[in-house]
Amino acid sequence: MVNYKDLGLVNTVEMFKKAVAGGYAIPAFNFNNMEQMQAIIQACAETKSPVILQVSSGARKYANQTILRYMAEGAVQYAKELGWEHPQICLHLDHGDTFELCKSCVDMGFSSVMIDASSLPFEENIKLTKQVVEYAHKYDVTVEAELGVLAGVEDEVSAEESHYTKPEEVIEFATRSGCDSLAISIGTSHGAYKFKPEQCKVDPATGRLVPPPLAFDVLHEIEKKLPGFPIVLHGSSSVPQEEVDTINKYGGALKAAVGIPEEQLREAAKSAVCKINIDSDSRLAMTAAIRKVFAEKPAEFDPRKYLGPARDSMKKLYMHKIINVLGSAGKAE
Ligand code: G3H
Ligand code: 13P
Ligand code: ZN
Repeated sequence: MVNYKDLGLVNTVEMFKKAVAGGYAIPAFNFNNMEQMQAIIQACAETKSPVILQVSSGARKYANQTILRYMAEGAVQYAKELGWEHPQICLHLDHGDTFELCKSCVDMGFSSVMIDASSLPFEENIKLTKQVVEYAHKYDVTVEAELGVLAGVEDEVSAEESHYTKPEEVIEFATRSGCDSLAISIGTSHGAYKFKPEQCKVDPATGRLVPPPLAFDVLHEIEKKLPGFPIVLHGSSSVPQEEVDTINKYGGALKAAVGIPEEQLREAAKSAVCKINIDSDSRLAMTAAIRKVFAEKPAEFDPRKYLGPARDSMKKLYMHKIINVLGSAGKAE
């Protein structure tokens, strides 16, 4: 049993309290490899932004949970080496689906876990979330839960008909489950294809697809029911068109990829939304940079020569999110 405090990590209690009061959001960036982790820490050390490093089930399968945990421990030391005296880094399990998985993360030094039982009926979601909360809280580990179902582009429903979180359920859910933060569904979804083209309008000036707006009315209803309670937005990549264009220019085949416009995320960050999850944008930045090197320097075969530019490009993306979208720069001096 290792406690996260011994690794220099922090849970989300203070981070979220300050973010809700200050009208900004903490970046929650997924990581699967060393270059992503380095880019995240460089960006956060340079901007003095608190950060949540997220490990998904896909990351656990790809890179191994133990390795990622040691990388997060290394991230704290790396941040200090970069001159960030008091790094505020949380290591979080993204979309945990069983009690056993959440327990194993708590036991090996994660400072926060998500139990995603949103696909279960209401009572079962409360029951499983409560079981994780009771275990995690013994070790001061914070717990994120989810209520409502995020739409997928594969769903045979339009964004308006997706299973938005029901504001009338949130008080009972948060009170009975004891969760520390709540992920809600207001129209975001995972991946680079968040909306079907037929759900979007076309911007006459640029020809780009403009997706339907997020359900801010639902968010504000939830805020009224749970004043000051930390709210989480998953599926919040913006799918930058420059990255999509670069990927396609250098041999990729991403068609009609659409994300959440940044001005809507900026608005959400000012509300009780205090954690914004971004993964796909980093994947796009990495892929675009690697494709460019492969196309322009076909004789290059040293991985550092393409993973290095990919790391720089991700760092630029993370800094942009921190400074211009979430407003978390300077909040962890
Ligand atoms: O929640 C989705 C995240 O983007 C993680 O995805 O399971 O493919 O790593 P992944
Ligand atoms: P994106 O796919 O929009 O980056 O969302 C990531 C996420 O929600 C991870 O939990
Ligand atoms: Zn998610």
